[in-house]
Amino acid sequence: MVEETVPAGLDTTTAHPARRYNYWLGGKDHFPADRASGDLIESVHPTVRLSALENRAFLQRAVRFLAEEARIGQFLDIGTGLPTADNTHEVAQRRMPHARIVYVDNDPMVSVHARALLTSTPEGRTRYIEADLRDPAAILTDPRLTETLDLGRPVALVLIAVLHFIEDHTEARDVVRELLAALPSGSYLAASNFTLDFTAPAKAAVARDMIARGRSDAHPRTKAQFSEYFAGLGLIGPGVVPVSEWLPEVPAHQRPSPEEIGIYGAVGRKP
Ligand SMILES: C[S@@+](CC[C@H](N)C(=O)[O-])C[C@H]1O[C@@H](n2cnc3c(N)ncnc32)[C@H](O)[C@@H]1O
Repeated sequence: MVEETVPAGLDTTTAHPARRYNYWLGGKDHFPADRASGDLIESVHPTVRLSALENRAFLQRAVRFLAEEARIGQFLDIGTGLPTADNTHEVAQRRMPHARIVYVDNDPMVSVHARALLTSTPEGRTRYIEADLRDPAAILTDPRLTETLDLGRPVALVLIAVLHFIEDHTEARDVVRELLAALPSGSYLAASNFTLDFTAPAKAAVARDMIARGRSDAHPRTKAQFSEYFAGLGLIGPGVVPVSEWLPEVPAHQRPSPEEIGIYGAVGRKP
C-alpha cells in the first residue's frame, strides 16, 4: 500500500498481525514495519510463509467441512484478517448460499477493507464488527451479531490463528469457554494456534527470547494447552494435529513436515 492511501488514524509505525500475515501470504496491504517484523520472524522460522498458506488452507477445508458435511449455516469468524481469496463467507456460501457470517477483528485496517467481506449471496448475509476477542460479552451482545445470527441454532465459531495473540493461555481458554457457552448444542469450534512442539530446542529458545523481548507477538501453545480449547467437544477427523494433517487433500509425501508448519489445528462439535 502506498503511503498516500493510508487511511487517517491508522498506526503504520508498529507491526500488526493482519498486515504481517497479508505480507506472508503475498498480499499488498502492509507497511515497512509489518514487513520488517515479518522478515525478522522469517529469519527464525524460514518456512513461515508456507505456514501461513497451510493455515489458510486449513481454514478453507474446515469451513467447507462445516458447511458441506456438518450443514452449519451460521459462522462467527473472529480474527478475520484482511480479505483475501476464499474468505469464510465465500467458501461457506458456495456450499450453502443462505449461510450467515459475522466477522470480527480488532485491527482498524481490516475495517477499512471490510466491504470486501460483505459481498454476501442475496440469500445469505455477512456483517463486520470491529471488536476484541478478549471481550466476548461485547461481541455476543453486539446488535450486528444478534440481528444476523440466531444463537438458538448451531453456530460455527472460527478462531483461526488468533488465540495465540492472547498472551496468557488461561485467558485464551476462558475466552473460548465463554464464547462456546453462548452457543447451543450442535455448534462447532474450528481453531488453530502457533506451537513450538515440533521445533528443535535451540531454535525454540530463540523464538521464546523474541517473544520475551517483544519482537514477536504470537504465543505458542503445547498440544495439551491447545486441546483445552476443545474440552467437552467431540473432535472431528484426526483430532488435534498440525494444520496440514487435518483432513488433508494431498498424500503424506506431498505435505510439509510438522516442524515446517508449527501450527496446531482442530475442529470440535459441542454435544
Ligand atoms: C494471522 S491473522 C489470521 C486471519 C485468518 N483468521 C486466517 O487464519 O487466515 C490474525 C488476525 O487476528 C486479528 N486479531 C489479533 N488479535 C485480536 C484480538 N484480540 N481481537 C480480534 N482480532 C484480533 C488480527 O488483526 C488479524 O487480522
